[in-house]
Amino acid sequence: MTTSAKSRLLTVALIIAIIITPFHSVSAETAHPWENRAPSAQENSKSLPEPAQKRTESLPAPASGEPLSAQERSESLLEKMSLEQKVQLATGNLNNYYGFFNEGMDDLGIPALTMADGPAGIRIANPNIQDQKATALPAPIALAATWDVDAAKNYGELLGNEAFNTTHNVALAPGLDIARFPWGERNFESLGEDPLLQSELAVPYVNGIQSYPVMATAKHWILNNQETDRFTINSKASERALHEVYARPFAETIEHADLSSVMCSFNEVNGEHACENGDVLTDLLKDRLDFDGFVMSDYGANHTTVESAIAGLDFEAPGDPDGYWGDDLLTAVKEGKVSEARIDDMADRILTEMFSKGLFDNPTVNNKIPAKEHGKIARKIAEQSMVLMKNEDKALPLDKNKMDSIAVIGPDADNASAAGGGSSLVNPTYTVSPLEGIKNEVGENVDVTYAPGTDPISAGDVLPGPSAVPSTLLRPVDGGENEHGLTAEYWTNINREGEPSLVRTDNQLNLNLGFYNYEGLNAQSPKLEKLPGKFNSEMSARWTGQFTVPESGEYTLSLSSRGSGKLYIDDKLVIDNQSKKLATSKKALSFVEGEQHDIRIEYSTGKAGGRQDFGGMIRFGWEPPKEAVDPKIQKAVEKAEKSDVAVVVTHTYDSEGYVDTSTLDLPNNQDQLINEVSKANPNTIVVQMSGRAVQMNTWQDNVPAIVQAWFPGQEQGNAISNVLFGDVNPSGKLPMTFPVDEDSTPVSNENQFPGVDGVSDYSEGVFVGYKGYEEKGIEPAYAFGHGLSYTSFDYRNNVKAKAKRKGKNKDLETTVSLNLRNTGDVSGSEVVQVYAGKLPANVETPSKQLAGFKKVELKPGKQQHLKIELDPKAFSYWDAGKDKWVTPSGEVPIYVGSSSNDIRQETSVTIK
Ligand code: BGC
Repeated sequence: MTTSAKSRLLTVALIIAIIITPFHSVSAETAHPWENRAPSAQENSKSLPEPAQKRTESLPAPASGEPLSAQERSESLLEKMSLEQKVQLATGNLNNYYGFFNEGMDDLGIPALTMADGPAGIRIANPNIQDQKATALPAPIALAATWDVDAAKNYGELLGNEAFNTTHNVALAPGLDIARFPWGERNFESLGEDPLLQSELAVPYVNGIQSYPVMATAKHWILNNQETDRFTINSKASERALHEVYARPFAETIEHADLSSVMCSFNEVNGEHACENGDVLTDLLKDRLDFDGFVMSDYGANHTTVESAIAGLDFEAPGDPDGYWGDDLLTAVKEGKVSEARIDDMADRILTEMFSKGLFDNPTVNNKIPAKEHGKIARKIAEQSMVLMKNEDKALPLDKNKMDSIAVIGPDADNASAAGGGSSLVNPTYTVSPLEGIKNEVGENVDVTYAPGTDPISAGDVLPGPSAVPSTLLRPVDGGENEHGLTAEYWTNINREGEPSLVRTDNQLNLNLGFYNYEGLNAQSPKLEKLPGKFNSEMSARWTGQFTVPESGEYTLSLSSRGSGKLYIDDKLVIDNQSKKLATSKKALSFVEGEQHDIRIEYSTGKAGGRQDFGGMIRFGWEPPKEAVDPKIQKAVEKAEKSDVAVVVTHTYDSEGYVDTSTLDLPNNQDQLINEVSKANPNTIVVQMSGRAVQMNTWQDNVPAIVQAWFPGQEQGNAISNVLFGDVNPSGKLPMTFPVDEDSTPVSNENQFPGVDGVSDYSEGVFVGYKGYEEKGIEPAYAFGHGLSYTSFDYRNNVKAKAKRKGKNKDLETTVSLNLRNTGDVSGSEVVQVYAGKLPANVETPSKQLAGFKKVELKPGKQQHLKIELDPKAFSYWDAGKDKWVTPSGEVPIYVGSSSNDIRQETSVTIK
């Protein structure tokens, strides 16, 4: 590290130390930015000072009275600024418990930049602001499932409103990463797998945010599609795939929503880190896509001083662990390595956006969020997002007047912890659990009982390998009949040296520490006790107790871990899992019912190197014989047997971090739970809370109805019950394909994911999502665009498609018109989807690509004439040789339908 970088780090360390003393013992050198900004209850002390909030008046209007444009105001301010001040403006300078800032410059009247994470709501870091609570919206993937541009506008407006009213003028949202594969742990932050759907929603979303004096930051630029190896993976994609798929949503928000800022990502793009990559920052984003806002780095994504500045980075994120700008950048300019013009450009881009979005003229405020009013908006979006996957014999909606009892089952159905973890996790203003929602809905006359069925879902469920051994089959050392779990001893050293720092009972061994265990980033069930942060780095542990065999047969026991994991049964070493990366080792064993075996698991893990902040990761898993049923499941079965209806609410754990899930099975034995419950009660309804696809092939045929509810936000209980009981007719459509299993996708090759030798090869090209399934002839379980309703729609046989060229640029205008009728007996909304077929081109193009869609609400028996405008890009491809979009002439098939594989009408259009 250079001397100036060091001194800058020391200054930051000093500031942090002053602020946090005496509560915090982590030194700034070792603290991680995310960790830094999340105080514990104790640190959450009233004596902490207010954050820097420097606000000023706008520049005076010129004598003529004509208001100056944002650009003119920026230019006139730039004239007053020294080189040092411009560099200071471009270097985010503060990241602490209160959030991310760039401090204002009083003498110049420049307000501070105060940033809040999104995109699932406003994440408030400052403990002095509204108890850090904001409206937890349904996850962005749920917004995408609404296919509703008004919902996207409301979503964005709510973010803008709550950012501004909680003292933030930069929202780190939306997330425009394409959901490239169904198991992406950050898919919940995405708007799905299709660039047109993403774009159509992203534009009103960004406009909504920026209708307040708040700058939106679209992230992450670019090819940031996996969490496994996210800091180092080299994403290799063709120029055509970049243009046609990954860059498109960004391009549309630049063109149609005056996007302020773009966050460059951690990964490499074609061999160079995204934030130092001139091809993607300057050539593609700024020159080709005409982006005139500023590029900021993700936290720790900048690794250089000169290269990143030259490549086109405009703002180094506050809290970058090393920090390469500031004084170093100034020196580089003085040494002629970076031009002053580049620094002027950075400052100009930042200031122009600050002026144009009103940051100078509208200081942010701290005004209480109207929790109920905003909660209603969250609920409405959640209701619109729910996808009725399956509904045999009209199992849904439920009729509360025709039932006496209902069993609500599911590990977290009694709390509202189903939300994505990581930087986008929002601390909700209030919550409604599915159990509460259902109880409120049915009132006194229906008996509602609850059983969890399995242990709670936690960050441990992100690890690969078989589900964790259920707590009910484990007994701690000296534990009584009814005590469950294992005795756990934890050390902060790697050799289990000295007395353990903590001894407690863990219900299961399913542990994921480090980033996943930072305060405030872990969407953990309230039933689980958090492990203190001191175990987040190097540590060791020992779990001891007994395993009671529930049924005679062959068991496969497993350890999924990173580091050193050893499983002893009756004092004999049966699994020795030694691995620097996460790995699973298994052992098949025969057991006899009722036997009790001594279990001892020893674990240790060292410090993760470099930028990684892995912590301990270990799961003690099992694959039981079919007949072996956990007593927790049996209890749920008993409740289901005695009830008219059983609702099983499943839950997956999805989070930003260090790994994508490697299995689409439901975690923690929930697949088995559904099967056992459905055997006991044929009226078993599954409500699935996940931010990504899951596989259902082991149970979907055994239940009559499935609702994909995503992570529905703080009003999840009300939204779910309104859909189950028919107060709301579901209208959500899948924004991503759900495959039969992990092996049946167009990205199931390890070169593509997780990549080989650090390279993820985007060899599927433009055939992403449903386009890839069609191309490869892979039948999905549930297709892109799929979603049923409590009513039915008839696509009348009068579909017409027209194309013409308009204006002096001869822009292509293509429309499809048709009549749609609601032929059922309740009101409902349908998303009519139009796909363009293969283009008459001499390159391969998708056999179907979304060209337009419209969501229409119709009363029973009513018909409406619809006109849907199609996106010219659906009739074009990116020609890398010619370096432009090309629209081939000829006939293009047009498919109109209710999903990508439920096509109701076909026609064609001739492009001239
Ligand atoms: C994420 C960003 C986020 C940032 C700040 C990073 O880990 O990738 O999306 O804005 O943290 O919390």
